[in-house]
Amino acid sequence: MLVGARQVVTCRGPARARRGREMAEIEVLRDAAVLIDGDRIAWVGPRADVGAQHAGPLREVEVNGVLFPGFIDCHTHGVFGAPRLDDHERRALGVDYRAIAAAGGGILQSVRDVRARPEAELEALTRARLAALLAGGSTTIEVKSGYGLELEAELKQLRVIKTLGEELCATLVPTFLGAHEVPPEYRSKRADYVQLLCEEMIPAVSREGLARSCDVFCEPGVFSVQESRQILTAARRHGLTVKLHADELEGSGGAELAAELGALSADHLAAISDPGIRALAASDTVAVLLPATMIFLGKRSQAPGRRLIDAGAAVALATDFNPGTSPTMSLPLVMTLGVSQLGLRHAEVVTGVTINAAAALGLAADRGQIAAGYVADLVLAAVDDWREVAYWMGTDVVSAVWTAGSACPA
Ligand code: NIG
Ligand code: FE
Repeated sequence: MLVGARQVVTCRGPARARRGREMAEIEVLRDAAVLIDGDRIAWVGPRADVGAQHAGPLREVEVNGVLFPGFIDCHTHGVFGAPRLDDHERRALGVDYRAIAAAGGGILQSVRDVRARPEAELEALTRARLAALLAGGSTTIEVKSGYGLELEAELKQLRVIKTLGEELCATLVPTFLGAHEVPPEYRSKRADYVQLLCEEMIPAVSREGLARSCDVFCEPGVFSVQESRQILTAARRHGLTVKLHADELEGSGGAELAAELGALSADHLAAISDPGIRALAASDTVAVLLPATMIFLGKRSQAPGRRLIDAGAAVALATDFNPGTSPTMSLPLVMTLGVSQLGLRHAEVVTGVTINAAAALGLAADRGQIAAGYVADLVLAAVDDWREVAYWMGTDVVSAVWTAGSACPA
């Protein structure tokens, strides 16, 4: 039993994403206790009522700060080799992301690295980075492949995710992103790569049970809406749920496609159109916004977070942790950016990294809330007021983390 928290932010309510105005309605309890039974939360409520809930001895853990449901980072590209410092420097000199990619940097640089790097090395690099995400409070982390772009190198990334998922305190949710870019050897025959994805890579990934979802970088110059539809339809046929990098830099109808396919999420959306906003608002697809990416790329624009919520959409926030566009391992920093860059209220930001992020991964039934029956993933922040977690910009206030009912090593 956890007691003594100054506040407990429960996010309790229905087991589904919050949309529109609901995003700002979160429950905050004072003088509350959280009862844990095994890996689940058994009860949360006023400390004075514990006796009526539970007869017999209880192990009390006194905590100091504010308790939240474990944060959920629903979009990362966490398995990669070296940082891309040359890209970063070229951008400082005014060269933009797509020009850097066209000149051989960008995603393909990380692809060369991952293809050549032994699995054990990739695993060691990834272990340290995911541990940093966990230390920032992310108890569930989605991790994409996408720096292999050939079957064996994609499987290598997915195996690293599986191995670390069994070892680390956090839950890792693997996504196949073989459609992150067209690999160099298929540049003059891109239709063949789409066919390879649909007929060989997706079936193999699904057969090996190494991914739950399939994602596509749907963007002019990368994969078209038509190609993305083809790939994601194949993924669904093989039992994978689907997600999309949609309308990130230039709008092309990715959000509409996500809604059409019943995708779990449409991610990025900095260039979403008005019809795209309406399509998401009318669908169950979660809009996953990644404000750190636009900041790191030096862009002045951001996804229209406020307009999406006002239109009635469900919005989640994530780091997009990756070596090219978002090398941050702090979800709390992204929460700060949610307020300052997207115009979200503190409560909306908390909903965006808990319940709605769970929904973006298809996990809303038992993650993202401090409520009876939910997985006992919790975060303690060393603050007095819950809003401070999004306030102390770039300063991690997370002081303890529990997953499946057990304290994670610091
Ligand atoms: O989400 N947009 C595509 N993928 C990443 C960037 C990956 C990279 O540059 O390595 C993103 O921003
Ligand atoms: Fe991404």
